[in-house]
Amino acid sequence: MRPVTLVTGASAGIGAELARVFAVHGHELVLVARRAERLTALADEIAAAGHTRPIVLPADLESTGAVAALAASLTAHGVEPAVVVNNAGFGLMGAAAELSHAEQLAMIDLNIRALTELSLTFVDSLTRHRGGLLNVASVVAFMPGPRMAVYCATKAYVLSFSQALHQELAGRGVRVTTLCPGPVATEFQSRAGFRLDGPQGLLALPARRVAEIGYRGFVRGKRVVIAGFGNRIAVALLRFVPSALPLALLDRGMGRMAHRT
Ligand SMILES: NC(=O)c1ccc[n+]([C@@H]2O[C@H](COP(=O)([O-])OP(=O)(O)OC[C@H]3O[C@@H](n4cnc5c(N)ncnc54)[C@H](OP(=O)(O)O)[C@@H]3O)[C@@H](O)[C@H]2O)c1
Repeated sequence: MRPVTLVTGASAGIGAELARVFAVHGHELVLVARRAERLTALADEIAAAGHTRPIVLPADLESTGAVAALAASLTAHGVEPAVVVNNAGFGLMGAAAELSHAEQLAMIDLNIRALTELSLTFVDSLTRHRGGLLNVASVVAFMPGPRMAVYCATKAYVLSFSQALHQELAGRGVRVTTLCPGPVATEFQSRAGFRLDGPQGLLALPARRVAEIGYRGFVRGKRVVIAGFGNRIAVALLRFVPSALPLALLDRGMGRMAHRT
């Protein structure tokens, strides 16, 4: 079995940039997302740049059985993951009681269930290749987020789960890094239903920069990587303020962003 790096959510945004960065560093890739044509275009681009042509495996990771089907496809291609980059995810802005309950449950299926299954399914091959997991959370993982309640809770799960796995798998030589980006201008905002401007826009980093920071942190075996100085300061400050304050500020800030869509 050839070792590969499997990247979920590689059809856009941070995932596409993570794929490009891993390719530049010599990783053979498997690209996963729903939009096959986007994945094929990225595979063409990576191959044209002189890297090994990525394998394209379109999949809807919200559906039960998707990870088992992916595992079977990898075996059929004669490859197994040395690295899994769990990047696919989405958020929704609005009051949890008012947003579609079905869509919020689908978010849990993608952001939590699929990430967990992908993190656990390939532990033996990650161990064989002394590779690891790069799981994408968010700076919102460090606090509850009114008007993005389910999304923030999914990212708190990713942070908690991945840190525990970092400890559990260290003895096997498997590194587990949680990447926590702040705001990044991608398709994320239009899907979630807001525009990136105001104070959030000031903290924004380009997706390529976030991918490079994530890659470097992963290679160094960091447990948690918060992308960007401003975001590191913001997270550090949270320790010193009573929790009611960021809750109220976020509620107001998110409310303003939602009204600008
Ligand atoms: N952008 C930000 O400000 C920001 C900040 C912090 C954390 N993050 C996190 O970073 C990660 C990447 O987000 P992004 O900003 O790059 O968003 P994006 O541009 O919307 O990309 C999301 C990716 O996830 C894939 N995806 C969505 N639903 C899927 C499904 N059911 N099955 C398989 N793939 C699916 C999408 O591909 P298809 O539509 O082709 O399936 C796309 O490739 C997410 O986990 C997000 O929560 C983003």
